[in-house]
Amino acid sequence: MATRRDFLTLSAATVLAGRIALPSGTGVQQPENERSNLAADPQRPRYHLMPPANWMNDPNGPIFWKGQYHMFYQYNPHGAFPESMHWGHAVSPDLVHWKHLPVALAPTPGGPDKDGCWSGCAVVEGGVPTILYTGVFPQVQCLATSDDRMITWRKFAGNPIIAAPPQGIETTGFRDPCVWREEDEWYLAIGSGVEGQGGVVLLYRSRDLIHWDYLHFLCRGRKDELLPGKDPVSTGEMWECPDFFPLSGKYALLVSTQGAVIYSVGAYENHYFRPEAQGKADLSDSYYAARSMLDGKGRRILWGWIREGRSEAAQRAAGWAGVMSLPRIVSRASDGRLNITPAPELETLRGRRHHFAGQSAQGGFSIRGDSLEIQAEFEMGTADVAGLTVRSSPNGEEHTSITYNRSKSQLLVEREHSSLSSEVDRGPQGGSFTLAENETLKLRIFLDASVIEIFANDRACLTSRVYPSRPDSLSVGTLAKGGNARLKTQDVWEMRPISPDRLTT
Ligand code: FRU
Repeated sequence: MATRRDFLTLSAATVLAGRIALPSGTGVQQPENERSNLAADPQRPRYHLMPPANWMNDPNGPIFWKGQYHMFYQYNPHGAFPESMHWGHAVSPDLVHWKHLPVALAPTPGGPDKDGCWSGCAVVEGGVPTILYTGVFPQVQCLATSDDRMITWRKFAGNPIIAAPPQGIETTGFRDPCVWREEDEWYLAIGSGVEGQGGVVLLYRSRDLIHWDYLHFLCRGRKDELLPGKDPVSTGEMWECPDFFPLSGKYALLVSTQGAVIYSVGAYENHYFRPEAQGKADLSDSYYAARSMLDGKGRRILWGWIREGRSEAAQRAAGWAGVMSLPRIVSRASDGRLNITPAPELETLRGRRHHFAGQSAQGGFSIRGDSLEIQAEFEMGTADVAGLTVRSSPNGEEHTSITYNRSKSQLLVEREHSSLSSEVDRGPQGGSFTLAENETLKLRIFLDASVIEIFANDRACLTSRVYPSRPDSLSVGTLAKGGNARLKTQDVWEMRPISPDRLTT
């Protein structure tokens, strides 16, 4: 599992990896041999957004502007490890196909962001695209603006715009600004926490995006607070990447708790947010640092960082690490919680279709592929466990199962046999998920090389990483245990790569 490293360390590997270093602001370019090595890498996704090479983590400042979807992200141009954070930039006309643009922000030697341009947001003020982000070390808030193409960014000469956390609070961190407008005032949420107590979101107000007054906590957690559910999740001591937005008459707050992305839906009154319903935006720790955008159709679209699940050495050797999740549409469910579903635009990637109907789930069928969308509906019948196996080798020595377990009320990815390699994570991933009596299990699974994104009955998401070592670990099948389940229907589409030439700028 990738761990957060000390961003100050400049290791020998950073220098070695300089072979793929990119001068910031000059566009993303790599030598030909690097491009072809990466393109041939069987573990590298083909229809997910990711930088042409090197390290990426959080989505930053996703924004819909002038008919285009802009995505920025934490990016290290020096190699596949988390140091020297820049803001990478890509743009899409349709949420699916992306064009890489020059790096938007790079650390300025001697500046408040000399050790990294960490996460933040983008807004447009009076026609001027504006980024607010965190400079380190120490953690301070900075601002940059652009012309209306958002290609070249100029940092505000008076940075930092917020030089320290509010006085009198022993904070665990001070980062990842999220800005919104209320009439003629701007509000700013910053991720933080109080030492020994729990995560908090700090709330600020401004008239010009530059001068900010601290107000109070927008919301706070308790360190040992456990969210309700069969497998409760601790809300921790530091909340990163707050994302706050109105949703169908209520408000939603997402925070990344250094473990999971937790959402709350609730009331926002007098500039305090009071959660009424909570849950995990994704049941796994492979998905993190989620951020949303509002698009031209009024949809709230959520993005997240899909982490690697293999050793740091394997990541460095691969020359790339980190993937952007597929776009997920967020809406408010009738029970007050969030529904999260894949954006319909992804259907444009569907190629050849294989259809199955009305068969027993035991013993399954066999489709092969590692770039697929699978839609399957199961009647659980008498079975305790039902679902699919993916990335199976002909002799079964490698396989991964995706199942609903009725007696445990869990949606699970089991990775124990996902790879023969010793460099990969093998632990199960998943969590609380319950089907109502007689409700069918509806799985929608996006398989893209080492990435698996699962959507269950429109109300649970589960992201996973698997790295089979055998080139023939490609089979998809169904399974049922503890009784008989029936596969009602299943469609499998071969997915097209988002751009055969996406390694070019
Ligand atoms: C979340 C995070 C943010 C920080 C960024 C640095 O993954 O730790 O809090 O701004 O990554 O890359």
